[in-house]
Amino acid sequence: MKKKDILILGIETSCDETSAAVVKNGRDVLSNIISSQIEIHKRFGGVVPEVASRNHIMAIDSVVSQALEQANVTFNDIDAIAVTYGAGLIGALMVGVSFAKTLAFALNKPLIAVNHIQGHVAANYLGTDLKPPFTALVVSGGHTAIIDVKNYCSFKMLGNTLDDAIGEAFDKVARVLGLNYPGGPEIDRLAKEGKPIYDFSFKNNLKDELNSSYSGLKTSVINFVHSKQQKNEEFSKADVAASFQKLATDMIVEKSVNFCSKTKAKTLVIAGGVSANSGIRQCAKKLCEKQNISLFIPKMAVCTDNGAMIAAQGYYNFINNKGLAGSNLSAKSRI
Ligand code: KG4
Ligand code: ZN
Repeated sequence: MKKKDILILGIETSCDETSAAVVKNGRDVLSNIISSQIEIHKRFGGVVPEVASRNHIMAIDSVVSQALEQANVTFNDIDAIAVTYGAGLIGALMVGVSFAKTLAFALNKPLIAVNHIQGHVAANYLGTDLKPPFTALVVSGGHTAIIDVKNYCSFKMLGNTLDDAIGEAFDKVARVLGLNYPGGPEIDRLAKEGKPIYDFSFKNNLKDELNSSYSGLKTSVINFVHSKQQKNEEFSKADVAASFQKLATDMIVEKSVNFCSKTKAKTLVIAGGVSANSGIRQCAKKLCEKQNISLFIPKMAVCTDNGAMIAAQGYYNFINNKGLAGSNLSAKSRI
């Protein structure tokens, strides 16, 4: 390894994935260990915060050790430790933050605080040559946000959801269809077997704004399913999934691409768990090609929560002297 290479250990525990990764120079993933709690939370139909915190505590030590082992490095080789400090579930975040603070203190290494949403965006730096400025669309369980990224450490949220986030709508629609948690990947799979024949359109007052709303669409689908069930009428779950997915993803991709065209932004970057969705990927590809906008979407493995994206953003914070934290760093459920 060349001496000037910078290795960041990234730690992520904001929700139900305990993850640690070693990333070189913000771009090369040397390891990315993700211990998912999906199987544990499935039986509750969603993430139970207290259960998530307890499982992070049980997993984190071994996840970090595996990340070092797989990267073939030791703590001595690590230049700085980056950790998600928010937003997310407070108890879950506290596990990662406390662990990272202790490591940084014991090893006498710099500690870097990373915003989870900035981390999602940074997943697009992994293995690519993407450079700011660009417009970002973060689609996750908590956000449907359009963001102006002027440089590696600046971050201006221009619009977000006013109620449910897009991932939340996927999860709730999946639940009414009797699918497992997390519902996004289940809807995605089922939608491939169906056709978008149902009309779930709703009154969308936010069409020309950067904010968005998913509660109208979610309610429209839930009412349709309940009404069919009450009347004992047959309907195709696959067609419901395909119709919902098309509307949910077209809506936000169109909004983002129109914004890029209006502001003459040359690059659109999509990130967050829902960026794994095949519908959003196809629609974004089609519309960006049409408007001559270059499109970045992370590799599937780093769309949902992971330590590598935190290490990538941590690297840019580190080399720009931003987000350097001390032993008073505290977890924040909202930022
Ligand atoms: O980014 P993420 O892992 O966690 C948050 O920061 O929220 O996103 C989780 C969300 C969940 O709502 C999940 O259902 C959704 O991402 N998701 C998907 C897909 N994979 C994950 N939604 C639609 N299609 C997918 N393939
Ligand atoms: Zn996330």
